[in-house]
Amino acid sequence: MKRLLSIAAAATLLVCGPVAAKETPKWLSDAVIYHIYPSSYMDSDGDGIGDLEGIRSRLDYIRSVGFNCIWLSPCFVSSWKDGGYDIVDFYRVDPRFGTNDDLDALVRDAHAKGIKVLLDLVAGHTSADHPWFRESCRAERNRYSDYYIWTDGKPEKRPGRKFVDNDYPRNGYYLKNFFDIQPALNYGYLNPNPKHEWEQSYDDEGPTAVRNELKNIIRFWCDRGVDGFRVDMASSLVKGDNAERDGVRRLWREIFEWYGREYPENIMLSEWSEPKQSLSAGFDIDLMIHNKVGGKIYRPLVCATDDRMNPTACYFDRRGQGEIRKPMEIYREVYEASRKTGGYASMPTCSHDIWRLNRMNRNTPQELKVAMTLFLTLPAPPIVYYGEETGMRNLEYAPPKEGSFSSRNRSTCRTPMQWDTTANAGFSTADPSKLYLPVDNMPEFPNVAEQENDPNSLLNYVRGLIALRGRTPALGADGEWRYIGDPDNPYPMIYERSSGGERYVVVLNPSGRKASGTAPKLGRKAVWVYGTGAKDARCRTDAGAHTFTMQPVSAAIFRIE
Ligand code: NOJ
Repeated sequence: MKRLLSIAAAATLLVCGPVAAKETPKWLSDAVIYHIYPSSYMDSDGDGIGDLEGIRSRLDYIRSVGFNCIWLSPCFVSSWKDGGYDIVDFYRVDPRFGTNDDLDALVRDAHAKGIKVLLDLVAGHTSADHPWFRESCRAERNRYSDYYIWTDGKPEKRPGRKFVDNDYPRNGYYLKNFFDIQPALNYGYLNPNPKHEWEQSYDDEGPTAVRNELKNIIRFWCDRGVDGFRVDMASSLVKGDNAERDGVRRLWREIFEWYGREYPENIMLSEWSEPKQSLSAGFDIDLMIHNKVGGKIYRPLVCATDDRMNPTACYFDRRGQGEIRKPMEIYREVYEASRKTGGYASMPTCSHDIWRLNRMNRNTPQELKVAMTLFLTLPAPPIVYYGEETGMRNLEYAPPKEGSFSSRNRSTCRTPMQWDTTANAGFSTADPSKLYLPVDNMPEFPNVAEQENDPNSLLNYVRGLIALRGRTPALGADGEWRYIGDPDNPYPMIYERSSGGERYVVVLNPSGRKASGTAPKLGRKAVWVYGTGAKDARCRTDAGAHTFTMQPVSAAIFRIE
């Protein structure tokens, strides 16, 4: 009996245990990731839509800011009903962006400049226009019949069951993953219910074939030289109650066991936002953003409204009504979990799904510097969405585009990169009516060219901060992190970063009021090294504590001596 139990325990550890199924490559420790939405970055051929050649032409800029890894939102053939997350051909670059050869050239040039390239892997679904789905819709059984999840009768309504009625020749309903036009691929169910004829098991033929397809896609792009992927809806693959913890992780551990062997230097980022689950399954980074556990940290810190546009009292707001205890407690749990499993919990500045930092009441370069100081001094590789380094505005008036509307209008954060003050902000030579989305109409809109020449610009602040991070292990991905401020005195936010004998303290006061906070004494004195201005921050050290006094809307990094 005992032996049986220990075999069961070992098996559980194998499936769910804390040790990741893949080693995280060393280069990730120094990575600073730049997330590009390809339709909006740089248009090289004047059609009004960004493309790969455009991105290639901006690699020197990207490297000059300090980014050494780019992640491209999907650039594959798509039906464009969900911004490229509705893929029609996983193996071919969408003609709007160029060709597979253009992607090869981008990867080659990026590598030559010391930049890694990550693609977006939409693993959970395809477009309804994908040939696999077209075949799956046929009445006659064929190779693709079980690539998706179909049922003959309409299943009873229950949350989590999203079956779609349709007019396809196959008689039945299919399960969707996100929009109706995104049928879920069939990775099977954790514990198929025999009464539910649509629930196949992980090892059935359909799910096994789909897993092989997934590996083929990964292999195809890795063999062409890419350095990894961000995985869309990574937690959605295997279905059923508790499937995330057991079924989805089983799948990823299987993939990583292979991926880690074949491509040990490549990485995977998960859109999962539950690092305890994702990192122990083998992901190198989990994206902590607006959903699940990530949402409990990110939203109260930076989202100025909820999805219905009701204002919220977020922390990074000059009204200074945010709270810090809860988000920091959850952040600490997540951080500590990541140290056990390996891999990182990274909180991006924002994304193609969630608003830019320059929004509503947070709209001055000084406020954005304070927020960027947080994102660039956390213990995980930073992920900066394009244009955030210059403080581009979230364009609330941008029209919905290509399925951008879900619970929010996501076009507002997908508008073209603003390079300079020439036509279309230097993004494209097309007639403005042809642009993918409008550029900012404010007379003095943030742009790269002007900020390059201004030593006090947000761009140069970000550049300096990335450089400081790069030469200071304590501030980097592998340095330790500890909240040392008083969580009941929310402003300023105070945390320690350390590595070996080095210690730094980051102090942030996004509020429009002067704010003081104390932290336990860490050394003889605290010396200002970076921030919004040396005069913005003071530290008094006495017998037992450091007292930091911060001017309104200010950020500072101190070295402890
Ligand atoms: C998450 C992606 O980030 C989002 O843009 C997309 O709409 C959904 N997944 C569906 O793929």
